[in-house]
Amino acid sequence: MSEGWSARTLAAQALGRIDEETRALVPPIHLSSTFVRDADNQYRAGDVYGRPDNATVREAEAVIGALEGAAATLVFGSGMSAAVALFLSLGPNAHVVAPRVMYWALRAWLGNEAPSLGLRVDFVETEDLGAVERAVKPGETKLIWLETPSNPLWSLTDIEAAAGIARAAGAWLAVDSTSATPVFTRPLALGADVVMHSATKYLNGHSDVVAGALAFARDDALCERAGAIRKAHGLILHPFEAFLLTRGMRTLDLRVRAAAANAMELANRLSNHAAVSAVLYPGLPHHPGHDIARRQMRGGFGGMLSIRVRGGAEAAIATAARVNLWKRATSLGGVESLIEHRASIEGAGSPCPPDLLRLSAGIEDVEDLWRDIDRALSG
Ligand SMILES: Cc1ncc(COP(=O)(O)O)c(C=O)c1O
Repeated sequence: MSEGWSARTLAAQALGRIDEETRALVPPIHLSSTFVRDADNQYRAGDVYGRPDNATVREAEAVIGALEGAAATLVFGSGMSAAVALFLSLGPNAHVVAPRVMYWALRAWLGNEAPSLGLRVDFVETEDLGAVERAVKPGETKLIWLETPSNPLWSLTDIEAAAGIARAAGAWLAVDSTSATPVFTRPLALGADVVMHSATKYLNGHSDVVAGALAFARDDALCERAGAIRKAHGLILHPFEAFLLTRGMRTLDLRVRAAAANAMELANRLSNHAAVSAVLYPGLPHHPGHDIARRQMRGGFGGMLSIRVRGGAEAAIATAARVNLWKRATSLGGVESLIEHRASIEGAGSPCPPDLLRLSAGIEDVEDLWRDIDRALSG
């Protein structure tokens, strides 16, 4: 597809690719797990076996790469496997700086599993760049990991400034941009080296695929190593799911903007609700990350927000039990709105406030969403 089209256009047409053999507008799904050798013992068509790579997976990678402005992209069987592949790519004894508040399962992996694999991880408040600066060990820190806006408080970290700190220390900067999406934030353009997505969320957008992605600023040794780990550990996404992911991304821009508009409206209304003690949403002027969000997030503040319910954990859980339209489920970024008592799923040791409900605004009519949650909050 010609250079210069907007991300929305590129995604809508999945880069405009058609199947040359049949002229099909929608490319076929390549399910084959193996490929036939040429008569002279070569594999000229390129593919050998399904575990290292697959043409349908490459289509999803090309779309994500175009959206993020990446030089190379790898798609994985989950967001967790994408992130873990990157951490394993750093090699033994690498030092990593990661946020204190971040996607809980990945934080648990970094805290509990990564040390036995030789990684040394320091958790800091990454929103405080001074703390990041103090935590990096020049010559030892291989990676600074950010998540912005971050689960479940939706705190913002200044990617451009963090990239400067990483560069000065000789480290890479990786950003979990799952909640921002490439519609609102393009971390590579702000100096990050790698963008990670749980493609399970907004990229796919329909709550029917578990997938992950790493998008690299350069097609270099780090990317090559992550690809080798994907191959060796069998972490690639199944072709059928890669097809669904590409199909989901055709409407990414519309979905994400609709969800963000709903989130903004709900955040405003919830701010005045008697049963709510705090609304955490980067689009609200009083949110501590609002100024960074205004600079860093272009065109919207995302579809994720959290509320703190007066009356503590019990009142929050009771509220989640009273919704009808909102679905009481974990995950985020689908077309349907989800509500979750986050501490219940994060478990012991979680920094998540016990009275917090995490809301993933979907694309439904905002008046219906409001009616349902207002009633649930009002008991
Ligand atoms: C911000 C964020 N990063 C990473 C992940 C992990 O992704 P997955 O569930 O696709 O493995 C999640 C999943 O909830 C997430 O919300």
